[in-house]
Amino acid sequence: MRIASITLLGAAIAVAGSVVLAASHVNVEGAIKARKAHMQLNAYNLGILGNMAKGDVDFDADAAQRAADNLAALAAMDTTAYWPPGSSNADVEDTRALPAMWDNIPDVLEKVAALQAATEAMAGAAGTLEGVQANMGGIGGACGACHQSYRQTD
Ligand code: HEC
Repeated sequence: MRIASITLLGAAIAVAGSVVLAASHVNVEGAIKARKAHMQLNAYNLGILGNMAKGDVDFDADAAQRAADNLAALAAMDTTAYWPPGSSNADVEDTRALPAMWDNIPDVLEKVAALQAATEAMAGAAGTLEGVQANMGGIGGACGACHQSYRQTD
């Protein structure tokens, strides 16, 4: 089901990309707010795990599991509607999304799939501090790979 929805996401963006004019009624400002909010939820939940992994906060298995489950749920969400064509930083203000995203949909979907795999691995291991520590790098790497390619750096 997840794979199917990823494929659908790609198809939806590809179709939308070919009819940019028809998509002009899309609420671009709202979409940008929504994707930033989604990213903030990612960062907040990852921060909970990161603080425990570093020893800045005492390990709490229940809290770690909740954060890990949230990250997996966020990664599994269909975010198609947050990325309408015409919402890159070349098109509008107040976004750092690079136009390259819309030119490389298959690669973006691979990066989404990598984050799904990494968050599922974390969700399966968050019951112990060692498990959290072992899976931090995988998630950080999945977030970072997409930012490196598709987020403006400043
Ligand atoms: C598939 C690509 C992709 C993945 C995976 C991804 N991000 Fe992002 N992220 C972006 C893009 C693109 C932006 C810029 C969005 C914008 O400004 O419209 C962004 C923006 C952000 C922001 C800034 C939000 C704001 O309020 O401006 C944070 C924080 C963030 N990401 C955290 C994360 C974390 C944490 C993860 C991993 C758990 C993650 N991201 C995974 C592409 C991605």
